[in-house]
Amino acid sequence: MDLKGTAAIVSGGASGLGEATVRDLAAAGCKVVVADLNEQRGKEVAESVGGAFARTDVADEDSVAAAVAAAESLGAPLRVAVSCAGIGWAARTVGRDGKPHDLASYRKVIDVNLIGTFNLMRIAAAAIARTGPADADGQRGVVINTSSVAGIEGQTGQVAYSASKGGIIGMTVPAARDLAAIGVRVLTICPGIIDTPIYGTGPASDEFKARLIAPVVFPKRMGTAAEFARLVRALIDNDYMNAEVIRFDGGIRFQPK
Ligand SMILES: NC(=O)c1ccc[n+]([C@@H]2O[C@H](COP(=O)([O-])OP(=O)(O)OC[C@H]3O[C@@H](n4cnc5c(N)ncnc54)[C@H](O)[C@@H]3O)[C@@H](O)[C@H]2O)c1
Repeated sequence: MDLKGTAAIVSGGASGLGEATVRDLAAAGCKVVVADLNEQRGKEVAESVGGAFARTDVADEDSVAAAVAAAESLGAPLRVAVSCAGIGWAARTVGRDGKPHDLASYRKVIDVNLIGTFNLMRIAAAAIARTGPADADGQRGVVINTSSVAGIEGQTGQVAYSASKGGIIGMTVPAARDLAAIGVRVLTICPGIIDTPIYGTGPASDEFKARLIAPVVFPKRMGTAAEFARLVRALIDNDYMNAEVIRFDGGIRFQPK
C-alpha cells in the first residue's frame, strides 16, 4: 500500500519501537499522530516529523477515540494503525518469598498491553472503514500490533507480560477475518531483544543488555528500533501479507532459565 498522502496513528510513538515507526512512516509520506502517555517526548517526536501529538492512555476508551479522531482530522485518509504502547513486568506466579503474584499488577499489564492493543485496533479500524478504497483490491488500511517472542515461548518470571503478548497473537487471525470485509489487513510482530529505553540506561542496563544477547543466533547483537520500523514498512508495502505473526528476533529462542 502506498503511504504517500495518507495518515497513520502509532501508540507508544514517543519512544523506542514506536518512535522509530513514526519517523519511518513520516519519511514515507504519512501524516502521523503520536499517541502516547508521555506528553513531553511525544510532542517533541510529533513536531520533529510534522505530525500531531495526542496524549493517550491506550487502555482508556475515550482517550483512544480522541486520538483516532485527531488522526482522522489530519486532512488525509487514515490507513495505518500501529500499536507499540506497552509495559514490561517481572514477577513469578509464586514468588521466592512464597507469596502469590499480585493480582492488581497482573490486571494492569493485561489492561495496557492486551486490552490497549485491542482498543486501538477496534477504534482505528472503524475509522479506516470510513475511508474510500485505496486500490483495486478494495484495501483500506493495515493494523500492525506488537507482541513479543515472550508471547510465544513465555519467559520465567514474566507470566503477566507473556500472557498479555500471547493474547495479542491470539487476536491476529480472528481480527484479520473480521476486518476483511472492510479491506483491512492485520499483522502481529513478535520482537526479540531490541535496544530501546524499555531496558533503562546506564552501566547496570548495559550489563543487563549484554547478558540478554547471549542466546541471539545471528547477528549477535540486539536489534535496532530502525530495523523494527523497516519491517513495519515492509509489511504495509506488501499487500499479500495478512493474518500473520512474524518473529523479529535474530533467531533467539527463550530458554526456561
Ligand atoms: N524492546 C524490546 O526488546 C521489545 C521486545 C518485545 C516486545 N516489545 C514490545 O514493543 C513495544 C514497544 O516497546 P519499546 O521497547 O519501544 O518500549 P519503550 O518503553 O521505549 O516505549 C513504550 C512507549 O509506550 C508508552 N506507553 C506505556 N503505557 C502506555 C499507555 N497506557 N498508553 C499510551 N502509551 C503508553 C510509553 O510512554 C512509551 O513511550 C512494547 O509493547 C513492548 O512490550 C519490546
